[in-house]
Amino acid sequence: MTAAETTQLPSIALLGAGSMGRAVLSGLLAPTVEVAGGIRVTNRSAERAAEFADTPGVTAFATADDPDANRHAVAGAAIVIVAVKPAMVPDLLDEIASSLEPGAIVVSVAAGVTVATYEAHLPENVAVLRSMPNTPAVVGRAVTGLSAGTRSSAADLALVRTLFETVGTVVEVPESQLDALSTISGSGPAYVFLLIEALTQAAVEKGFTAEQAAELVNGTFAGAAELLVASGKTPTALRIQVTSPKGTTERALAVLQDADLPGLFTRATDAALARARELAAG
Ligand SMILES: NC(=O)c1ccc[n+]([C@@H]2O[C@H](COP(=O)([O-])OP(=O)(O)OC[C@H]3O[C@@H](n4cnc5c(N)ncnc54)[C@H](OP(=O)(O)O)[C@@H]3O)[C@@H](O)[C@H]2O)c1
Repeated sequence: MTAAETTQLPSIALLGAGSMGRAVLSGLLAPTVEVAGGIRVTNRSAERAAEFADTPGVTAFATADDPDANRHAVAGAAIVIVAVKPAMVPDLLDEIASSLEPGAIVVSVAAGVTVATYEAHLPENVAVLRSMPNTPAVVGRAVTGLSAGTRSSAADLALVRTLFETVGTVVEVPESQLDALSTISGSGPAYVFLLIEALTQAAVEKGFTAEQAAELVNGTFAGAAELLVASGKTPTALRIQVTSPKGTTERALAVLQDADLPGLFTRATDAALARARELAAG
């Protein structure tokens, strides 16, 4: 492997190695990624920390064993990823504030917690960025929204972009758009799974076994998504290709279009955005 193919990152602390934290970690542990000084991760329970015992390059700390686990993890770290539940973020920031290195970059993964909240709890010499990855990070196919903070530089943004590119692609947006982005790509995998469930139910109602229905529908979604990526065509062009004039697909699409899917998705994403605002208001 050449140096050009290797992603180099400075030392990283990951606070809260739960579902999303581990998904991001999976990208950092890829053979093409080198993290100088290794990765320190924290959890509350010792059992969770013990799960990392055999992971090379990762040192795990549990607050149950060591009340200063988060402070130890951030000492010396150039990048600190905060991936605990949103409600726990302010206390965690107060806990680590005095242990952060001057010039450290704190990256939030927590939904709805604003840059202003982070900056209010952290020293001025620490940069803050906000991100919103999605669960396909586990298979290296995340779409991550990324927003700069008021104290972050272009170099900080570029570095954190590189970090999230280890698990997929990155879309930079102003923070004012991050909650809206979350209603599209953050929640998006759930919308896709709901559509898969609905089409699977229709297949079972047409007499296919559950196994056959799953194979037909899962394969169709995966195949169509791959075709979209590989062909470079728009979804509209690909839909038209499948839809012969006066054919069967055209009849089915007419029924779906009568249901005003764009309007339905607007209402669904508006509801998600309203909930994000409720959560931000506490
Ligand atoms: N899941 C998603 O699709 C998604 C997408 C985008 C963003 N996010 C964000 O990611 C964050 C984590 O969500 P999640 O689904 O990964 O939750 P999760 O699985 O519950 O993970 C949270 C982790 O934080 C640890 N933790 C809690 N308090 C801690 C503390 N004081 N110090 C150190 N570690 C602590 C927990 O450890 P223990 O298990 O030992 O208690 C747990 O491993 C949330 O803020 C969420 O908004 C999630």
